[in-house]
Amino acid sequence: MNNAPIGVFDSGLGGLTAVRELRNALPHENIIYFGDTGRVPYGTRSNDTIKRYALQDAKFLLKHKVKMIIAACGTVSSVATNLTHDLPVPYTGVVSPTCYEAARVSKNKKVGVIGTSATINSHSYRDRIHSFDPEIEVIEQDCPLFVPLVENGFIDKNDPITRLTIERYLTPVMEKNVDTVILGCTHYPIIREAIASVIGKEINLIDSGRETAIYAAKILKENNLLNDSDKNGECSFYVSDTPDGFENVASVFLGENVSHKVEQINIELY
Ligand code: DGL
Repeated sequence: MNNAPIGVFDSGLGGLTAVRELRNALPHENIIYFGDTGRVPYGTRSNDTIKRYALQDAKFLLKHKVKMIIAACGTVSSVATNLTHDLPVPYTGVVSPTCYEAARVSKNKKVGVIGTSATINSHSYRDRIHSFDPEIEVIEQDCPLFVPLVENGFIDKNDPITRLTIERYLTPVMEKNVDTVILGCTHYPIIREAIASVIGKEINLIDSGRETAIYAAKILKENNLLNDSDKNGECSFYVSDTPDGFENVASVFLGENVSHKVEQINIELY
């Protein structure tokens, strides 16, 4: 048993979708979240920059004596694949757990993957799916406008801008008759309803945050690292830009109030 917090990071707000799932799966765990809001987005940056940022984010969490680190970011998970070797605690990104579930649920063996440009260019999801089942056809599509849509609150399924953007990116994917689509970026669950209403509710939508939370719970259990407290766990939030906007949006993403629990830090010190 270990009552230290779990460390979770993302380039910004998207990783909070994974925290929400983590809170559902492991309500007694304490969580430290770092959102690199001063440097978001990562998805349009070079691989070297993303790796450097990811290591700084992880070092910040380690300072808080976390027992596990979760990169709740499709981009970091896809590009900073060396991170796992640099850390003294168990680590997971979102790619493996998500691909495992997609390979499991797809009936016609045609899976779409949507993510940031860095994620899609890395082919991380495609390669991982093929490691589970080489016969699955994987259709990859980057959606660079989705993160700005989410970060700016264009999340309503009836918003014409949101719908048109989804149609533009997802039409070529759906033309390949996929039965499963991976939301390969942790921002995308926020527009999950809008995506489902455009592409059809019968398509399996795999949420990388949810699958990663389930996987993290398994890792902690296997390593005897679960928190044995019977109290609800606490969440602390840190950001690298002003916390003002974060508090409002994060409350919506998490379904709980986060005011007075957000602190700004200088990530360049790590
Ligand atoms: N949440 C990040 C991801 O899952 C995307 C945002 C970004 O581009 O920084 O890829």
